[in-house]
Amino acid sequence: MNSSDALVSSPFLQALAGQKPSRTPVWFMRQAGRSLPEYLKVREGIGMLESCQNADLITEITLQPVRRYGVDAAIFFSDIVLPLKAVGVDLDIKPGVGPVVADPVRTLADVEAIPDLAPEHVTYITEAVHNLVGELAGINGGTPLIGFAGAPFTVASYLVEGGPSKDYAKTKALMFGAPDVWDALMRKIAGISAAFLEVQVRAGASAVQLFDSWAGACNPADYERFVLPYSAGVLSRIGELGVPRIHFGVNSSMLLPQMGRAGAEAVGVDWRTPLDWAIGQLGDDFVVQGNLDPALVFAPTEVMLDQAASIIETGRQAKSHIFNLGHGVIPSTDPDQLARLTEFVQSR
Ligand code: CP3
Repeated sequence: MNSSDALVSSPFLQALAGQKPSRTPVWFMRQAGRSLPEYLKVREGIGMLESCQNADLITEITLQPVRRYGVDAAIFFSDIVLPLKAVGVDLDIKPGVGPVVADPVRTLADVEAIPDLAPEHVTYITEAVHNLVGELAGINGGTPLIGFAGAPFTVASYLVEGGPSKDYAKTKALMFGAPDVWDALMRKIAGISAAFLEVQVRAGASAVQLFDSWAGACNPADYERFVLPYSAGVLSRIGELGVPRIHFGVNSSMLLPQMGRAGAEAVGVDWRTPLDWAIGQLGDDFVVQGNLDPALVFAPTEVMLDQAASIIETGRQAKSHIFNLGHGVIPSTDPDQLARLTEFVQSR
């Protein structure tokens, strides 16, 4: 049996195809990472970006949550800024801080100095995806791999601010004050993110998620003009490859229909947004993904499962539903709670 035969009965891929699988599929954003002791062990003494450039480590870390929880999909272990690093942008991922860029991008010349991404820049990604697709075909009757990239706005925010930001003041100063530079920057990142996704899909990823984590900083009119066209460009390039696409943002309730319209089969809903309301906003055309509050894992198990049950019930109103947290796993999460949550969702 080759890997694609093994995936025909994947509840995750069935849901993404708009079918109703026999049970609700589940995976967790940031399932691969610091909440797992086995992750901390293999990362000992190795920097985050270094790990993201090592095919064996990528493979091992991606598989860890699949082995432990039996989730219905694996997400490729990497980071949204890895492709920038791969083309030579001077940046680092600082523990407890996030991506930090040495020379923030502010001018057209800064944008033009960033090379485009070619598959040769990321041979370790191709190798890791090949390894993973082979391994995952044999886990739980076939587990699909999700490839991912950062959307242009979210990646731009790190490049322009130079690091994490609360108000995106410099990013928006560029967006509103120098629309030509903004356009060049967003095109540049869209090309890099699309190329990064394309490498993962050509090597065998079964679906992709485009993370526009910080797009919720924009109002719908500004999103429409300054953000959506570039994300749509990335998504349409991947649509041509025939894999389903998930589009996710945090604090994105005002943007949900637009995020769907950007060209995705599924829209991720953050935990602040009532799921029934999100389904109403999106209508019958979209699969929804989400949206348990990631902090609920710190509540007693019954309380967490009660809320999960209600999300599963509400999800039945949608075209199809993929269970997830409403944002990434919080690092101090007890893995046993996620194990109980996975088992509960898969038993419904
Ligand atoms: O399990 C998975 O989801 C796959 C791996 C993954 C990582 N980053 C690994 C990582 C994915 C999908 C991402 C995406 C990512 N990276 C996003 C979008 C998703 C989101 O959370 O909204 C964003 C905004 C980033 C940028 C970034 N990288 C941040 C904000 C941080 C956290 C900083 C911190 O330490 O609090 C990182 C670092 C990072 N990316 C870690 C991991 C496992 C932690 C680094 C470490 O272990 O040293």
